[in-house]
Amino acid sequence: MGKSYNIAVIPGDGTGPEVVREGKKVLEAAGEKFGFKLYYQDFDFGGDRYLRTGEVLPDTAVEDLKKFDSIFLGAIGHPDVKPGILEKGILLRLRFELDQYINLRPVKLYPGVATPLKDKGPEHIDYVVVRENSGDVYTGVGGVTQKGTPNEVAVQNMIYNRMQVDRCLRYAFDYTRKRNKKNTLALCGKTNVLTYVFDLWERAFHEIGKADYPDIKREYYHVDATVMWMVKNPEWFDVIVTTNMFGDIITDLGAITQGGMGIAAGGNINPEGVSMFEPIGGSAPKYTGKNIINPLASISCGAMMLDHLGEEKAALSIENAIMDVTANKIKDLGAGKMGYSTSEAGDLVAERV
Ligand code: IPM
Ligand code: MN
Repeated sequence: MGKSYNIAVIPGDGTGPEVVREGKKVLEAAGEKFGFKLYYQDFDFGGDRYLRTGEVLPDTAVEDLKKFDSIFLGAIGHPDVKPGILEKGILLRLRFELDQYINLRPVKLYPGVATPLKDKGPEHIDYVVVRENSGDVYTGVGGVTQKGTPNEVAVQNMIYNRMQVDRCLRYAFDYTRKRNKKNTLALCGKTNVLTYVFDLWERAFHEIGKADYPDIKREYYHVDATVMWMVKNPEWFDVIVTTNMFGDIITDLGAITQGGMGIAAGGNINPEGVSMFEPIGGSAPKYTGKNIINPLASISCGAMMLDHLGEEKAALSIENAIMDVTANKIKDLGAGKMGYSTSEAGDLVAERV
C-alpha cells in the first residue's frame, strides 16, 4: 500500500469548481498508476459564501487548513463582490497566515501551444519565476491623510527584512540547483532607483550565492530590462527570483507568452508548512457552468502539488500527458475553442497518465 495525502480543496468561484473537478480526475488517475491515495475535504470559501453569510473567511479556517498536506484551489473572484474583498480576505490572508513565502510560477511553452512571441517555440520558453510572496507593498503598511482634499497623501511601503530576503533567495538557489538546467539564477530588481530595498537583496544574493551556491551562476537584471528580455530573448532565463510586486507583474507577462491564463499554474509554497496550488487565471464568470473552460492550468497545478508532495514521477507523467494533449489534440486553449468540453479535456489528460 502506497502513501496517502490529505488535500483541502477550495473550488471557489466561477469556473473554479469545474476546473478543480478535472484536476482531481487527473490526480486520481496518477494515484492509481503510481500507488498513492488522495483524500479530499472541500471548503466553500468564495464569493457565494460571502454573499450568503457576510463572512469572507471563518476564524477557524487557517487552523483547519494547517492540518492538511496541501491545498488545491480553483479560483477566487465574484462579479457581485467589490474587487479586493475576496482577494485580500481569502487569497492574500491565506498566503500570509500560512506563511507561503514563495510563489512559484513556471513559464513553459508546451508543444503545439501558440505564443504571441514571434519566432519562439518550446525550446525558447522554459524558465521559472520565484516570486517572493510575503513582503513588499503587499504587507499593507502605509496610510492616508487629508483624504478627499487637494493635499491628500497616500503612502504604501515596500517592506523587506533580511530574514524574508534570505529565505526566498535560498529557496531560489536550491530550486535552481535541483532543476539542474542552466544552473543560472537571475535576480530581478531595480537597484538604480529602489536603492535601499535592492541593496539589501543584491548583497544577500551575492553573499549567499558565493558562500553556499558556488555552482550556480548569478545574474542581475533591472525589472524594466527583465520584461524586455522575457519578450526578446526568453531563452536566456533559467530561474528568476524577484520581489512580490515585480513578480506579480512579470508573471502575467510570462503567462501570456506560454499561451495565457488557460495554461499558467502556480504554487504558493511554505517549504516548512502547508502549500496552496492555484491556476493564475481568474474565475471567468461569463463561462461559468458551461463546461467549456480549459482545465489544463488546474491540471498543471495538480502536477505541481504532487511534485511538492514528493510524488515526482507522477507529476512528470501528468506534465507529459498535458504536453501530448497540447501537441496532438487541443490546438486552441481558449474557452469554447478547444474542440472539447472541459470534462473531455480532463479525460484526454487522464487517459494519457
Ligand atoms: C496573483 C493575483 C493576486 C496578487 C491578486 C488577486 C491579489 O494577481 O495571484 O497574481 O496580486 O498576488
Ligand atoms: Mn497577479
